[in-house]
Amino acid sequence: MHADPRPPGPDYGNEVECGQGVARAIKDGLVKREDLFIVSKLWNTFHDAERVEPITRKQLQDWGIDYFDLYLIHFPVSLEYVDPSVRYPPTWHYDGDKEIRPGKATIQETWTALEGLVGAGLARSIGISNFQGQLVYDLLRYAKIKPATLQIEHHPYLQQPELIRLAQTEGITVTAYSSFGPASFAEFKMAHAEALTPLLDHDVITGLAAKHGKEPAQILLRWATQRGLAVIPKTTSAKRMADNLDVVSWNLDQGDLDAIAKLDQKTRFNQPSNVRASPWQPPRYRSRTGKLTLAPAVLPHRAALDLWLNTLPKQARPRAPAACPAASSQPRRKIRGGSLAQFVRRTGGVGKGGAHPNSHTYVPPR
Ligand SMILES: NC(=O)c1ccc[n+]([C@@H]2O[C@H](COP(=O)([O-])OP(=O)(O)OC[C@H]3O[C@@H](n4cnc5c(N)ncnc54)[C@H](OP(=O)(O)O)[C@@H]3O)[C@@H](O)[C@H]2O)c1
Repeated sequence: MHADPRPPGPDYGNEVECGQGVARAIKDGLVKREDLFIVSKLWNTFHDAERVEPITRKQLQDWGIDYFDLYLIHFPVSLEYVDPSVRYPPTWHYDGDKEIRPGKATIQETWTALEGLVGAGLARSIGISNFQGQLVYDLLRYAKIKPATLQIEHHPYLQQPELIRLAQTEGITVTAYSSFGPASFAEFKMAHAEALTPLLDHDVITGLAAKHGKEPAQILLRWATQRGLAVIPKTTSAKRMADNLDVVSWNLDQGDLDAIAKLDQKTRFNQPSNVRASPWQPPRYRSRTGKLTLAPAVLPHRAALDLWLNTLPKQARPRAPAACPAASSQPRRKIRGGSLAQFVRRTGGVGKGGAHPNSHTYVPPR
């Protein structure tokens, strides 16, 4: 499953179809199962230890195979479980729309469950994806099985030399995804992806392609493989697939590598920390008139909440202030300097009959 802060697209929910392709290739005698290296990932909503094996079994069933060659923790992000019978693939949102619900599983719990998959013969090797150095160090403290690979976003605009060095020093292979940089994110209209020159059109890359008689994509892939990384480009074109495989039998020279090194922008496109948890929200208070609803997520402090309550006409105050500690435990103060309407305009804390838009989760397009 390819999942990042992007909405589900053709990268997700395709395991049945991939499995059908594999079954046909095996049936037609093109390959044997052992010739294939099939990788899948554990999605964020299945991080709880007891969820790991059942979802892996479901994924294997969808593929029509008995084991994965490699199975990765997709993101170091635990989200609340979503039953696959309710929605699959689950996406980042608990409600399939806006709400992010963090889960409770630690990485240690999830990693230990992945180690169990190896013991059960469901995964031949296990690894991690989208981890930064600190988490890698932490995981290595308790891992009984060392991650076989760390899969990361990697392209000239995001080179991450320190992370790569750390992983390689620890004997963890690094796998690069999105080797063409903004190209695989442009369809999601990310401003910072669109603002950069597409790498496949960049003068440095096209210049090196001309110099070596290769495609720009091959320059990008060879640069990664010369850094000791595995690459996993995807394409719908057989010609490009052949090009993308031809990325180890020739070399860029040191000057070429230095020129590409200068392109680093430290710009990450796949950024899970942009997917914010929905903020904590105490119960809403509806006024007696039914017209005002407090969206406390944007009034997180007791003083602010108290201030707001004091602005309400008496008949509009919450019916059950005792249920709200902030409201009940502080003496009421008079608000000066403006009407409720002005206050609302200033703080944006009140909406008519619904939460303020700020209390919604924003998930950036890719
Ligand atoms: N771990 C994670 O969080 C994560 C995140 C993203 C992706 N991934 C994985 O990384 C792999 C790659 O996916 P990606 O999204 O990063 O895409 P990518 O492989 O970087 O780019 C794919 C795009 O590049 C084009 N392309 C491929 N080869 C080309 C060539 N030789 N010349 C010109 N254009 C070429 C393809 O178009 P055509 O089809 O038209 O050729 C497609 O639009 C997938 O297996 C995915 O699951 C993992």
